[in-house]
Amino acid sequence: MKELSKVVEGFKESIFATLSKKARKNEAINLGQGFPDFDGPAWIIDLAKKALDKGEQHVNQYAPFEGVMPLREAISKNYQKYYNLDYDPQTEITVVNGATEAIFSTILAIVNPGDEVIIFEPFYDSYLASIKLAGGIPVPVTLKTREFNWDLNELKEAFSSKTKLVILNSPHNPTGKIFSTNEVEELGTLLKKHDAYLMSDEVYEFLVFGENKHIPPATHAGLKERTITISSIGKTFGLTGWKIGWTCAPKHLTHAIRMVHQFNTFSVNQPIQHAVAEALEKMDDYLPEFRALYQKKRDYFLEGMKKCGYDPIEPQGTYFVMVPIETHTTLEDVGYCMELIETRKVASIPPSAFYIKGDEGKKYLRFCFAKKDETLQSALENLSR
Ligand SMILES: Cc1ncc(COP(=O)(O)O)c(C=O)c1O
Repeated sequence: MKELSKVVEGFKESIFATLSKKARKNEAINLGQGFPDFDGPAWIIDLAKKALDKGEQHVNQYAPFEGVMPLREAISKNYQKYYNLDYDPQTEITVVNGATEAIFSTILAIVNPGDEVIIFEPFYDSYLASIKLAGGIPVPVTLKTREFNWDLNELKEAFSSKTKLVILNSPHNPTGKIFSTNEVEELGTLLKKHDAYLMSDEVYEFLVFGENKHIPPATHAGLKERTITISSIGKTFGLTGWKIGWTCAPKHLTHAIRMVHQFNTFSVNQPIQHAVAEALEKMDDYLPEFRALYQKKRDYFLEGMKKCGYDPIEPQGTYFVMVPIETHTTLEDVGYCMELIETRKVASIPPSAFYIKGDEGKKYLRFCFAKKDETLQSALENLSR
């Protein structure tokens, strides 16, 4: 039989799938998987149940391919309210199946074969796969520990006449870093100089700790017109299974993204879109308790890890923490991750899989603290033995 897609042949089962299997086999507590082990808020789930009963309004049929208008309007209102950003729900906002589809559709809409795409490593793994599917060339820039800053010279050198797109994720998975105003300005200057687009992945936009603030790059002077802002409700509402995401971008970019979306998934689960539209209207009431919940979990986990003799890097946002391992082992991240699964019954993620150039990831493990208090407590007890 004829060969299959060469690009797809290059995709292997990820180390995460292998480790998850190992975690299950060893009955380890899984702090690797990046989602909560508890349910999302009951009031939002109730909104979905109510939406399902509105069959006479055709909510159980295909949704408009751009997303239902109440949801696009709610998204638009929130960008105005929280960031003073104007996006027209008619022409600039598109609802897709989670940020993952937003990433895929944006990259496919912009990147031609041979175009270069700058990504900061460690990176969220779907970026690389989508760039490759589009025939683009990933150009990595390594974030330097412990602050996870870029080296401005390395970043400048990464740009070329072929640079089409830069991908920034802030708050950043897996490091928990929030890129500063200065850093975004440095990047913005280069984007304008080289006439490149910015895909800004902001799925952790509301998961920020203490005094830290999330400021979308599109709010910076001259960046909105070249920025595709991506977010989703998975992290904000602790409902990663609902897969409602969106893109906000100028009209011509939105048109191209919609064309990819139209011929890929076409539209998104309609009743859930209605529930999310209502939930987004209630963010002011919801956010304080949401932030307090995760702040408590972060502080508890960091404190516990310190008691176990680790020196975790305090995340400014997200529900991940990078923990240096060199003081505990001579093994690299994958080996040490396996060892902890076997001997301490705790699973994490080895971040070297999020790099294509640098070696830095081998010196860390990523832990996810979006877990029940008792899950975190048991994991810490195991690690302290
Ligand atoms: C940085 C980042 N972007 C995108 C996603 C995917 O989001 P969604 O579940 O909405 O597809 C994730 C999920 O872990 C993520 O960490």
